[in-house]
Amino acid sequence: MEKVLVTGGAGFIGSNFVRYLYRVRPNWQITVLDALTYAVNKENLKGLDEQRVSLVLGNICDQALVDKLIAETDAVVHFAAESHNDNSLQSPWPFVETNIIGTFRLIEAARKHGKRFHHISTDEVYGDLELSDPQKFTETTAYNPSSPYSSTKAGSDHLVRAWVRSFGLKATLSNCSNNYGPYQHVEKFIPRQVTEVLLGRQPKLYGQGQNVRDWIHTEDHSSAVLTILEKGKIGETYLIGANGEKNNKEVVELILEILGKDSQDYEHVNDRPGHDLRYAIDSTKLRSELGWQPKYTDFRAGLSDTIEWYKQNETWWKPQKAITEAKYQELGR
Ligand code: NAD
Ligand code: TYD
Repeated sequence: MEKVLVTGGAGFIGSNFVRYLYRVRPNWQITVLDALTYAVNKENLKGLDEQRVSLVLGNICDQALVDKLIAETDAVVHFAAESHNDNSLQSPWPFVETNIIGTFRLIEAARKHGKRFHHISTDEVYGDLELSDPQKFTETTAYNPSSPYSSTKAGSDHLVRAWVRSFGLKATLSNCSNNYGPYQHVEKFIPRQVTEVLLGRQPKLYGQGQNVRDWIHTEDHSSAVLTILEKGKIGETYLIGANGEKNNKEVVELILEILGKDSQDYEHVNDRPGHDLRYAIDSTKLRSELGWQPKYTDFRAGLSDTIEWYKQNETWWKPQKAITEAKYQELGR
């Protein structure tokens, strides 16, 4: 494999993946197809050699464009999506269009040209777990999505699986837990709280802050995706997670503590409708069958690095901050 098309490669996880691939596979040519939505900062791919990484500004729903790009590549790694739950509750259509129709366009082109396809998805397709449930999500957990975001991601997973079975699409899928790390938009939980504190304001916890997320550093997500792309079995799904369960209150307290503030200096805001209680991933299959291991097993250390990145890159996040907070203010969140 030498030529890879990365959809959504200018976004948070996609750009971290492109940087990772650039570093560990120096002979590969990377083409990024990205619509550069509100979620993107043009700096995300800055500094990469344009001979090795090229950016095509375009929409994954554009069949002629994806057909042309997929004809020219060896493999597709599909990150492009509308990705924020709160936005999906306010305005679901872009989620249906990009996540479902966009994925359909890509797999149609991939099957036509017989290309390797890797589909990026989320653990949110499985719905949520009780706080006390000893079970975690596995590859055989039944789909039970709660939100417009997670239901459109579930729809896209089903399309890919059906294209494997019905048309022999050479695809693999991965469902990952919540990512953290550099280049994440300030609408998301960790960057929002870090930048609130950096601006001298209080972090904002939805409801009582008991909801649990299973945090993984985005670099570990990248290494897992490359492992699956190179060693994964066609037709298989792999869950990606790093045993990082924490409730939101614990995360906020840790952010405040790392930034040298009173760990109780946060506020409770309106809860999100339909808010999933807990996600937890069992990644045994990926570890035992493909030999993958996460590197960032110390959440505090990974979070400290991430906080440092936001401290050092104020010009990256500042322009989006006021716009994002104005949207939250309207919702009382
Ligand atoms: P993001 O919102 O930061 O990035 C999404 C990217 O897709 C952006 O670059 C955006 O411009 C692009 N995009 C959106 N619509 C497009 C379209 N129609 N055509 C072309 N490009 C388009 O999101 P992210 O957090 O980096 O998520 C990337 C992927 O990882 C998504 O598929 C998401 O479901 C999945 N995922 C995210 C998490 C997480 O914690 N953020 C966890 C598991 C899985
Ligand atoms: P988020 O980053 O939106 O990811 P997801 O909804 O995909 O898990 O939110 C992570 C958790 O943090 C989720 O339980 C909602 C909560 N949350 C807050 O408590 N306060 C906030 O300001 C935000 C944005 C999220």
